[in-house]
Amino acid sequence: MRPSVAPFPATRLRRTRKSAALRGLVRENTLSVNDLIWPIFVREGQGVAEPIASMPGVNRLSIDRAVAAAQEAAGLGIPAICIFPYTDPALKTELCEEAWNPENISNRAIRAIKQAVPQIAVMTDIALDPYNANGHDGIVRDGIIVNDETVAALVKMALAQADAGADILGPSDMMDGRIGAMRRALEAAGHTDVAILSYSAKYASAFYGPFRDAVGASGALKGDKNTYQMDPANSNEALRLIERDLAEGADMVMVKPGMPYLDICRRVKDEFGVPTYAYQVSGEYAMLQAAAQNGWLDGEKVMMESLLAFKRAGCDGILTYFAPAAARMLAKG
Ligand code: PBG
Repeated sequence: MRPSVAPFPATRLRRTRKSAALRGLVRENTLSVNDLIWPIFVREGQGVAEPIASMPGVNRLSIDRAVAAAQEAAGLGIPAICIFPYTDPALKTELCEEAWNPENISNRAIRAIKQAVPQIAVMTDIALDPYNANGHDGIVRDGIIVNDETVAALVKMALAQADAGADILGPSDMMDGRIGAMRRALEAAGHTDVAILSYSAKYASAFYGPFRDAVGASGALKGDKNTYQMDPANSNEALRLIERDLAEGADMVMVKPGMPYLDICRRVKDEFGVPTYAYQVSGEYAMLQAAAQNGWLDGEKVMMESLLAFKRAGCDGILTYFAPAAARMLAKG
């Protein structure tokens, strides 16, 4: 029940804002380094950090540099890192066989990081787009993204990632039935402790543009992803997707993108009370960085304010390209 508010002057809401001490006492939400998951991009090579033009400050890293990034993250107290592959275009096919190659760039990166920095949780992405000749998250037949055949491919991809040592699998493909199929396959293979963080409510968003540059999928993509990713107009549908994925065996759920979808985060948290994450995606990062680089916004302040907003909306954690910068700010206090 909402307490009644006495009329002015008995109530002066500025009393609890008058000093940093008072503001601290009444603060409702805080951001902690434990809330951060850091997405990184991996590519072939040695000693490589290749800048991504549309994501200032983010690089595609060769595996040795990715291991160094994981070490840096662990040193900052960041609990998890999420790996995205930049795949050589020559390896992209219509059936996406490279996606479940145990030696693909992402599986080699998982193994190298788990060996060098065992304490950091390694999360993956499960979708076919980095390996697909046509840039889609699923297998395309006669112009249709086919669901069930894609799920079978995604299960192979999930098992290869679990074999490589991934702690958290992140299916981002939006096919129907993939969580249940993956969970059954993981149990059967003895991977009983591998967690699934489902990209359950993933919208068909224009905010993914810079990411598609980063993984080299922009040029390849034919058409749009509207037959599998969600319509930005919908909200009730997100709850159905979350409920379905939880019933199929997801341990954690995600809303994506982040800032434009905080209303969805709040509904999900209130409705289910399960570990709820948001992805502050590449386009959100790009717009904040672009404004900061022009001197139009204070970059550090908008970074921290935007991350705190996710906590206020009920999120347990945030996938964000700002993770190391935010962790450094939090360490400074
Ligand atoms: C792959 C995938 C995408 C993102 C994460 N996993 C792109 C897409 O669905 O097109 C986007 C992440 C970002 O924009 O930062 N399916």
